[in-house]
Amino acid sequence: MCGIIGAIAQRNVVPILLQGLQRLEYRGYDSAGLVVVENNELQRIRSTGRVAELTTRSAATSGHIGIAHTRWATHGVPSERNAHPHLSSNLIAVVHNGIIENYEELRTRLTAQGSVFTSDTDSEVIAHLINSYYARGNSLLVATQAALAELVGAYAIGVVAADNPSQLICARKGSPLLLGVGIDEHFIASDVSALLPVTKNVVYLEEGDVAEVSLHGYRIFDAKGQAVERPVHVSKLSNASMELGEYRHYMQKEIHEQPQALADTLEGVCNSQSLIPGIFGAEAAAAFEQVESILILACGTSHHAGLVARYWLEEIAGIPCTVEIASEYRYRVSVPNPKSLVVTISQSGETADTLAALNHAKALGHPHTLSICNVPESALVRLSKLHFLTRAGPEIGVASTKAFTTQLAALFLLTLVLAKQRGRLSAEKEQRHLHALRHLPSAVQLVLKLEPDIAQMAERFTDKRHALFLGRGLHYPIALEGALKLKEISYIHAEAYPAGELKHGPLALVDKDMPVIAVATNDALLEKLKSNLQEVRARGGELYVFADAGTRFHSSEGVHLMQMPEHAGYLSPILHTIALQLLAYYVALQKGTDVDKPRNLAKSVTVE
Ligand code: AGP
Repeated sequence: MCGIIGAIAQRNVVPILLQGLQRLEYRGYDSAGLVVVENNELQRIRSTGRVAELTTRSAATSGHIGIAHTRWATHGVPSERNAHPHLSSNLIAVVHNGIIENYEELRTRLTAQGSVFTSDTDSEVIAHLINSYYARGNSLLVATQAALAELVGAYAIGVVAADNPSQLICARKGSPLLLGVGIDEHFIASDVSALLPVTKNVVYLEEGDVAEVSLHGYRIFDAKGQAVERPVHVSKLSNASMELGEYRHYMQKEIHEQPQALADTLEGVCNSQSLIPGIFGAEAAAAFEQVESILILACGTSHHAGLVARYWLEEIAGIPCTVEIASEYRYRVSVPNPKSLVVTISQSGETADTLAALNHAKALGHPHTLSICNVPESALVRLSKLHFLTRAGPEIGVASTKAFTTQLAALFLLTLVLAKQRGRLSAEKEQRHLHALRHLPSAVQLVLKLEPDIAQMAERFTDKRHALFLGRGLHYPIALEGALKLKEISYIHAEAYPAGELKHGPLALVDKDMPVIAVATNDALLEKLKSNLQEVRARGGELYVFADAGTRFHSSEGVHLMQMPEHAGYLSPILHTIALQLLAYYVALQKGTDVDKPRNLAKSVTVE
């Protein structure tokens, strides 16, 4: 989604803004722009191309204060006139991330008062609204605070004024924003990755905060307008963790980072001899004592992680579990159970629907909340009583890979902790599970060795327009995730079904042009799955079988076998999903798509 960077410094800030935008590219965008203040004038450059094009266009521009933006269109098509920053009377410039819900009403009023709108966006009203207060003699800070009080919706904003080259104002509500603290230079950004080349010292703004940023310092005011102090954090992210290194794409790099990401996520647990609830927070033990069911809320890939967890939680911990898509739950009339543990799962921790679903659950009277998240300072973590941080490191590719497998690892730990607390995990079983978790990173290494074979298999998909993924039980969500990966980066239409559903409808789609990808694990449902696959072959369907050791599948005409190195029991979904990530990646390479930034998608979905 949209990305913001801003800077005030003694040096020219244009290269800082452009480098920051480049680092925000992964969030997804369709246009970009920047404004700098120089000689009491706003100099604006915008482009519907890549940041590289904006860089070319900005060659002759310089300034010591500026704001910049990558836009992911919501209101108004992707075009130069809709790209940010938006100006009001060449005096006020604004960049905005979020959605202003009452923009039509504000636009009508401001137009009647003489404001001239030049875009179709909701964001432009912010510039005119601030200007309307600024024109009455208010400071830029006060004018911004007054304007924000009239906005309904979500925002992170950066504001500069042509006649005030010494102050940059920013604010957040519902969309992330942080300050970067340098020596006699300061910055604002949507996420810390944009700031790493200039500073690691960051201040996370809280909901409703407004900040006045200048060369030598900054002042923060909370939602009530009171001056507040917020702690300065030193980011642990390294510049190297954001670089591509030897890989062709971030997605490929992130697929290969999974052994380390899993090892890091499981580190504390695998080094100890037993599992304790404390890994989810100091109050976890007491909370877990009280819960009698689990409600998981998430979106996209994170929702698939929840679907896998349901099988684990019910079978191993014996605790009823429901999994809901956050955007459905937040608007559905549901029956709350205060003894449910509400588990939200999110890579970014800033997904608007997941945040809203958590707030909705809390409003319904759910006291027990746990988030599983990859970003420590995210809104989701701050909104939840308990949390577990996956340690996947920054995930740049839009398609989620290492975030998903580390979420699964975290959810498996949750299952084991709850099982233990409920007296369903013997000491011997606990040790067996811990042993399997310790082995997981090396099991993943073995799957990664299949990369050349999977790349070869992917060549058969180049001219395909549709694909069907099948799995059963624990691996049905993995089929869903495999289909999501394929569709989002290769643009092949892909569907996933529990294999037993085949003859209830989707079998009608099967012919020689429909590749059917099967997750064939060596478990109790293997023979049933084999029968389902016979049904596909009998209709001329081409099978691509990812089969565990010991499943006795053989390649034959119309059956392409990918022999998986082992069967990992309950952890098998993690191994199979990695194989399907590689398949999607190589199909996308064949098709020549923009793997890391697939069309129309954003990494961090901060609007509804
Ligand atoms: C998956 O590849 C996507 N990037 C998407 O489905 C993602 O998982 C979803 O938008 C939720 O994001 P979150 O985990 O950051 O909340």
